[in-house]
Amino acid sequence: MGIPVVTPPLPLRTERLVLRTVRPGDRAAIGAYCADPEVTRYLPFPALDEEGLDGRMERMLGGTAPAEVGEMLSLAVEHEGTLVGDLMLRLSAAHGPDLPPSIAELGWVFAPSYAGRGFATEAARALVDLAFTAYPLHRLIAQLDPRNTASARLCERLGMTHEAHTREDYPDRDGGWSDTAVYGLLRREWEAARA
Ligand SMILES: CC(C)(COP(=O)(O)OP(=O)(O)OC[C@H]1O[C@@H](n2cnc3c(N)ncnc32)[C@H](O)[C@@H]1OP(=O)(O)O)[C@@H](O)C(=O)NCCC(=O)NCCS
Repeated sequence: MGIPVVTPPLPLRTERLVLRTVRPGDRAAIGAYCADPEVTRYLPFPALDEEGLDGRMERMLGGTAPAEVGEMLSLAVEHEGTLVGDLMLRLSAAHGPDLPPSIAELGWVFAPSYAGRGFATEAARALVDLAFTAYPLHRLIAQLDPRNTASARLCERLGMTHEAHTREDYPDRDGGWSDTAVYGLLRREWEAARA
């Protein structure tokens, strides 16, 4: 069973950013950084061609009000009217057929031209607050290739704990296997950090 469909309180405004649902007109901006192999190096998809971008846009445009495990919220992040990146919150587990999702996963992709200014951190912090406020979650996670040090540092800035390093559990694009780092943040840790 899902939770009653929650309409997240969007757009969210932070000091420098606006977080809003994705629109068809975002295609060119999202396509520009998702076509960059440096950006997608540690993502679960290769640099996107037009067909790959069609699929990603379709998923993102549908990600407005997740209610069931497997569904996601997709957000575009704007700075001064320019799309600088995107965020994802995917409901990833519930612990009984009559229980709402209690674990969700965070994801982020930002344009390299806007890296190094704290935008991803500022946006992801707002998404963490939204996740624990709008959904009855107990725990947030992020999973990443341990070689993705920029993403690992972002998790640490968010106050997440490095909980696990699993070996060769994800097929890489060269026919081999890569490891996974798991970061977690519990609701009580989020509450304590806000107090
Ligand atoms: C992961 C990713 C979003 C991180 O981007 P980022 O630019 O490093 O993160 P931020 O925008 O939060 O910027 C943080 C950096 O800016 C610096 N910074 C400058 N001003 C800052 C501010 N006001 N607040 C916080 N950090 C600030 C920080 O020191 C940090 O630099 P450092 O990592 O060298 O110490 C980006 O590398 C990316 O999109 N990668 C490709 C996609 C990807 O791999 N996604 C994750 C899959 S798991």
